[in-house]
Amino acid sequence: MNYKVGIIGLGRIGSLFEEDPKIKKKPCTHAGSYKELGIEITAACDIRKDRLEKFSKTFGVKNLYEDYKDMLEKEDLDIVSICTHAPDHRDICVKAAESGVKAIFCEKPMACSLKEADEMIEVCKKNKVILAVDHTRRWDTCFEKITEVIKEGKIGKILYMNAYSSVGLLNGTIHLFDLLRSYAGNAKWVDAKIIKDESTDPGGYGLIGFENDVRAYVNAIWKDYIYFGADVMGTHGFLKGTGMIRSGRSFEFSISKESENESNIKELYPIDTEVPEWKSPISEAIKNISNAIDKGEKIKCTGEDGRAALEIALAFHESNNTGKRVSLPLQNRELRVIPRETSFTKSGLLEDRK
Ligand SMILES: NC(=O)c1ccc[n+]([C@@H]2O[C@H](COP(=O)([O-])OP(=O)(O)OC[C@H]3O[C@@H](n4cnc5c(N)ncnc54)[C@H](O)[C@@H]3O)[C@@H](O)[C@H]2O)c1
Repeated sequence: MNYKVGIIGLGRIGSLFEEDPKIKKKPCTHAGSYKELGIEITAACDIRKDRLEKFSKTFGVKNLYEDYKDMLEKEDLDIVSICTHAPDHRDICVKAAESGVKAIFCEKPMACSLKEADEMIEVCKKNKVILAVDHTRRWDTCFEKITEVIKEGKIGKILYMNAYSSVGLLNGTIHLFDLLRSYAGNAKWVDAKIIKDESTDPGGYGLIGFENDVRAYVNAIWKDYIYFGADVMGTHGFLKGTGMIRSGRSFEFSISKESENESNIKELYPIDTEVPEWKSPISEAIKNISNAIDKGEKIKCTGEDGRAALEIALAFHESNNTGKRVSLPLQNRELRVIPRETSFTKSGLLEDRK
């Protein structure tokens, strides 16, 4: 994997999570994963000098930039990781795609509006650039297994899902929207309410209608802890998926069998599901991108997937604003919401923000 890589945004997901002693499963950042895979990071960019200096010391990168346009002009890069917050994603993606890179690995949420997401997909198509969006669970061996079990029909036909996550809709909950899509396919409509808070990206609750009449009830309400998951009810079984996060990934499949407690009825009984060995999802994503460049492998979370998850989040706002159930694709491509930087402050801003 002999690529020239540039990383834009050297914060938590760019590199700093590697320094968190409580995160046991590593690498867990773009920089850490490139390093693990032996891919040289040719250049790095951040608007903060202190971040550039720190990054240079940790990862030995010498070509440092405060302006991504300079970096893209001067360096002949193959892959660009976009690890800034979403308001900059569209502009960076357009410049990167036009600079001749082969692939862009963009953090979620891919953009703040569907217009921006449309432009990102379009510019990548036009310049034959691979676009991957980091909905990390798509490359997580555990979630791949759960999705496989659902797809092979172990719990029968999906009837409905009960899902919950942290705020905001475009920050934490967007991962949940992507997860629900990976279980049930494309969303067709949204009927929801927003619970306004101090941030630009609040939570909400409501119904999502998917293909084949599958419905998901979603609750994304502010709390001072993380809680993320989805229970899936099928015609022959049930997935209980609570706390599906870094610490736990706890889930259990149960399937219907003749009851041991009463004649002529069936009840649910848990089954063992072998969980494959953990592999760094970001490293797996980079391997997927590399195989897409070299062998045309399919990207597991494309620009279209990133846009579809964003569309559900924005549809919550559109439904709240219009007081109606909204059909997808969303007609309002201009609706723009600035995502929270974190789910855990009331303001939505990271505490280290300068
Ligand atoms: N996939 C995941 O699980 C996951 C986890 C955390 C964060 N994220 C996403 O990653 C993105 C970044 O989040 P973070 O928590 O790492 O934020 P952060 O604030 O820790 O890091 C962002 C960095 O980008 C830099 N930056 C801002 N504007 C820039 C610009 N124009 N050019 C170059 N650098 C610029 C900032 O100085 C900062 O160092 C967000 O979109 C967030 O939602 C994803």
